[in-house]
Amino acid sequence: MKLSKNMQNALNNQIALEANASNTYMAMASWCEVTGYEGASSFFYAQSDEERTHMLKIVHYMNNLGISAVIPATKLPATNFNSLESILKTALKNEQMVTTAIHKMVEIAQKDKDHSTYAFLEWFVNEQVQEETKFETLIQKFELIGRDKLAINEIDKILAADAVTPASDSPA
Ligand code: FEO
Repeated sequence: MKLSKNMQNALNNQIALEANASNTYMAMASWCEVTGYEGASSFFYAQSDEERTHMLKIVHYMNNLGISAVIPATKLPATNFNSLESILKTALKNEQMVTTAIHKMVEIAQKDKDHSTYAFLEWFVNEQVQEETKFETLIQKFELIGRDKLAINEIDKILAADAVTPASDSPA
């Protein structure tokens, strides 16, 4: 099966987006760890692992079709953050950007009548709905619980409970 050059480029670009997301979340996890936000730290380390599984899913899809995936260089992530709330807002923006990229790929697949890639991308479309909702819900907690030290400690516990392992959210 052949994929258009446009589709191949978009998939390779997506590999880079997922790799950068994985790195960004690891940087966030690390900052949370040294700042003492234990729950948020576990949450973002797990999130980083999850992004890596997303990246691998695309790498395997391309390689299995005989199209060598391009393993990209990653951007230097930010290492200094202002607050847990600002980190979560940055993460939501990142997810929204990833969603836009995935929707563009779906449009390419439709235009190409590339049914295989269209079906492959469905998992990602659904995943992005979940990811955006997850971050929106967490950001809401600051309005609901507050921003003082006790409130942040409470939100940190919520994040700990939300930390998923890739094994429980496996893209297969
Ligand atoms: Fe791989 Fe969170 O998008």
